[in-house]
Amino acid sequence: MRHTPLRAFSSLRRLVVLALTGLSLGGGLTMTACNHPETADTGPLAMAAGTPDDHSYARPQEVRVRNVDLDLAADFQAHQLKGTATLKLESKANAKQVVLDVKDLGIEKVTDASGAPLKYVLGKSNPMMGQSLTIELPQGAQTIVVHYHTQKGGTALQWLDPQQTAGKRKPFLFSQGEEINTRTWIPTQDSPAIRQTYSARITVPSDLVAVMSAKRLTPDGEAVPGRASQRTYRFEMDQPVAPYLIALAIGDIGFKDEGKRTGVYAEKAVLDKAAYEFADMEQMLDAAEKLYGPYKWGRYDVLVLPPSFPYGGMENPTLTFATPTVLAGDRSLVSLVAHELAHSWSGNLVTNATWEDFWLNEGFTVYFENRIMEQVYGKDRADMLKVLGYNDLLGEMKQIDADGHPEFNKLHPDLKGVDPDDYFSDVPYEKGAAFLRMLEAHFGRKKLDAYLKGYFSRYAFHSMTTEAFLADLRQHLLHNDGDLEKQLKINEWIYGTGLPDNVVVPKSPLLEQVTADISAFTAGGDPKALDVKAYSYPQWVYFLSHLPDNLTLDRMAALDGAFDFSHSHNSEIAFAWLMLSVQHHYTPALPTLRDFLVGQGRGKFCTPLYRALMQQPGWGPDLARRIYAEARPGYHELTRAQVDKVMK
Ligand code: BES
Ligand code: ZN
Repeated sequence: MRHTPLRAFSSLRRLVVLALTGLSLGGGLTMTACNHPETADTGPLAMAAGTPDDHSYARPQEVRVRNVDLDLAADFQAHQLKGTATLKLESKANAKQVVLDVKDLGIEKVTDASGAPLKYVLGKSNPMMGQSLTIELPQGAQTIVVHYHTQKGGTALQWLDPQQTAGKRKPFLFSQGEEINTRTWIPTQDSPAIRQTYSARITVPSDLVAVMSAKRLTPDGEAVPGRASQRTYRFEMDQPVAPYLIALAIGDIGFKDEGKRTGVYAEKAVLDKAAYEFADMEQMLDAAEKLYGPYKWGRYDVLVLPPSFPYGGMENPTLTFATPTVLAGDRSLVSLVAHELAHSWSGNLVTNATWEDFWLNEGFTVYFENRIMEQVYGKDRADMLKVLGYNDLLGEMKQIDADGHPEFNKLHPDLKGVDPDDYFSDVPYEKGAAFLRMLEAHFGRKKLDAYLKGYFSRYAFHSMTTEAFLADLRQHLLHNDGDLEKQLKINEWIYGTGLPDNVVVPKSPLLEQVTADISAFTAGGDPKALDVKAYSYPQWVYFLSHLPDNLTLDRMAALDGAFDFSHSHNSEIAFAWLMLSVQHHYTPALPTLRDFLVGQGRGKFCTPLYRALMQQPGWGPDLARRIYAEARPGYHELTRAQVDKVMK
């Protein structure tokens, strides 16, 4: 991509403004600007900075938010956060207005720093984007205060009654910002390219604890003068982060150390179990640093959420949010921690600038996650996970084609007017990782690792587009060799809908053994005779997902009898078994299916199971509707939205 002199000029001016106002973009840029003037001026950073985000109303080229300071009180009766967001602004051109993103918020008033009211107008509401909030700025205003409260229907916050928690005694609240949900609890410029520092005062009932994805300044909270029933917790994130990474949880939360820099937060009822499960965190952190450079966020803790948490994990800086469905009791599902930890580099340090660049977050992270797993647990285990991921990708790409969405098979899709959640699939994750593995096969690990380490340090605390990444890749790895670029099929990888033929197909000897066991079983063998004592979870998942789709009910019963899948403590094995059971109309599994779907609300498990039920005419749909009627009230809005679509 080429740049007009005008764009080069405006980014130069941006640097000057920053220098004059003393604002730091966080290490990277200043260094880069000194060492490689072309990089800051017309190079990848300028490219990324000029890219519009179709999923935000903000106009950051005029004014952008630099810091958010929250002062919010949590009302568990009204299910409401209420208070103020004080925004520090940086005006580029003496702008007269600032535009924020809001959705499902009650705006009470907007003032300047001294409390004088400012005029504002809310734009027309869009079901995906929410509304613009345009505020008139007095000459030179740098601070605005938005007085507001959250409202029912907002997608970021889930308020849980005590019976929806593990402990069953106290309520719980958590937020989920990615991708465009932060605007439902914080009025700000909700684009991943508009990094913001933040601080917060969160006031909660005094028997609950608040945590955020930031430095926890008052771990025990502070008394609120005159209000014995409340406590306030203060937080600070002094490094600029994308707004989707601002996160809050409130509940009966306890903490246990794991290592020097690592620990586990969880509802007190599951704290010991969680601490056991994640005992290798510190080792993972060390392994990650060895691969791609120092960890920049201070502490790395994991918060285990109640079972309705809609994702497996969410990489909120300094504090990963995780589903309790990874607490298998045997540390078998900890690749999730490796994944979220890896995001501390790919995602949180170098962030996708728009949701069309999502693969820069997830593809890099899957690659990095597997490298951590290999380092800590060995090649056999890492290889199995690679094969599972690759097989998921092949299945998913077929499904996406069948659904008539070829665009979603691209690493860089066009998402104009599309909810970024609709693009969510294995493609950005596994095709993205496969792209890096292709580079690894060509250049070797040493060169690729050096490149990646350099990439994370060149763009630390910046947001990147796909184009800007490619420019960097050309400069630092391909050394501007156009023939090599063609040979590696870079264009086809990034902009094409298929899987280029230089993909490296992963192999795992341990899974090849499973293939032999599957053959023995399908040839009519007694499952009890299979040598599965040493099977690990990926082998079980492989076994269950590669059985033929025409097993008789007798054969299903034989499996169930031999391995008691209905009582598996491993949620991935349970899920694979339930998918198989639904496909085969195996009714003895139905009580387990009901308990599984009512007992947790992780989209990755719920959506495919309901879809599979709906695809069994005469047998499944009624069952699906009955279970969903019971389960839906406990699900997060984001899981409800996904399942609602397959139940139509
Ligand atoms: N960042 C994602 C979760 C996410 C993606 C939330 C898009 C909202 C929108 C997180 O890092 C993730 O990928 N989680 C996975 C687990 C992981 C081990 C692949 C998940 O939740 O399943
Ligand atoms: Zn991820």
